Amino acid sequence: MAQTVLITGSSSGIGRRAAERFLAEGWNVVATLRDPSAWDGIPDGRLLIHALDVRDEASVEAAVAAGVERFGRLDCVVNNAGAGLFAVFEGTPQAVVEDLFETNVYGPMRVIRAALPHFHRQGGGRIVNVTSTSATVPQSLQAVYTATKSALDGFSEAVDHELRTRNVDVKIVVPGFVPSTNFVAQNYTRFAKVQTPPEYASYLQQRIAVFDAEIPAGYVATEVQAAAAVFEAATDTTGRLRFRVGQDAFGAATSRRLPDADYESWRRSTFDTPCPS
Ligand SMILES: NC(=O)c1ccc[n+]([C@@H]2O[C@H](COP(=O)([O-])OP(=O)(O)OC[C@H]3O[C@@H](n4cnc5c(N)ncnc54)[C@H](OP(=O)(O)O)[C@@H]3O)[C@@H](O)[C@H]2O)c1
Repeated sequence: MAQTVLITGSSSGIGRRAAERFLAEGWNVVATLRDPSAWDGIPDGRLLIHALDVRDEASVEAAVAAGVERFGRLDCVVNNAGAGLFAVFEGTPQAVVEDLFETNVYGPMRVIRAALPHFHRQGGGRIVNVTSTSATVPQSLQAVYTATKSALDGFSEAVDHELRTRNVDVKIVVPGFVPSTNFVAQNYTRFAKVQTPPEYASYLQQRIAVFDAEIPAGYVATEVQAAAAVFEAATDTTGRLRFRVGQDAFGAATSRRLPDADYESWRRSTFDTPCPS
């Protein structure tokens, strides 16, 4: 019997590619989107498109129930939906902070709560949570995003201890920068809600210049490669927890493993810029 996966945030980027990858591998796929009419892929008997906003518990429960009703089982959920924010913390309204936590942290928790009764009924299941290298090395001007992805990363590792006793595995996919997705545009849209205090303008411009600099070929992952990491995590039998994708993600992990003093000097030279005189 084919296995069934439910994926959040399937409208674009990694989630969209993951839906295509699982379908190609013979899985039943519940591809969920905030706006299901945005799906423009080819229809397939093993594909159910369903509305799901991770901030809305009722929509999460409805999507999980519809998937189980259609395919008779649920084997894996992929918490891919996520929102970014490239902004100075001091200018970020609390409402924007809370919205990011709703999407990136409480959203995956809602999906997991809705899936667990089905996993337990079947005797097990798998959860794949997409975090970020900002959970490995906290990123400048991404303090709030880093807080959400670090929370999700830590939660995933901790809850895995408990859930493994019930034969439910948690996996963490850690992408570096994946420039082909809508993620950057989405970041800038949310950035419009942030007032940058003038004292940070020069630092912000310097960091944006670094962020926008040309990336060496092959250094960062494509959305297809990130989706492959999601599939690898969903089907892993080795007990591995984290699946990094992109040379930048592996580079961040190497830096993080430096002795504290070396890490500190690497961090300062990477993210600090001289104070304007
Ligand atoms: N791209 C990167 O550089 C990068 C790096 C590290 C980690 N990641 C993580 O990778 C994941 C996928 O992002 P992506 O790169 O593929 O970017 P993307 O193309 O912008 O995809 C983000 C997806 O999340 C969905 N989403 C946002 N808020 C949602 C909500 N409240 N409920 C349900 N869906 C929601 C979006 O749907 P709508 O179309 O409805 O907005 C979209 O489908 C995210 O968790 C992101 O944090 C991305």
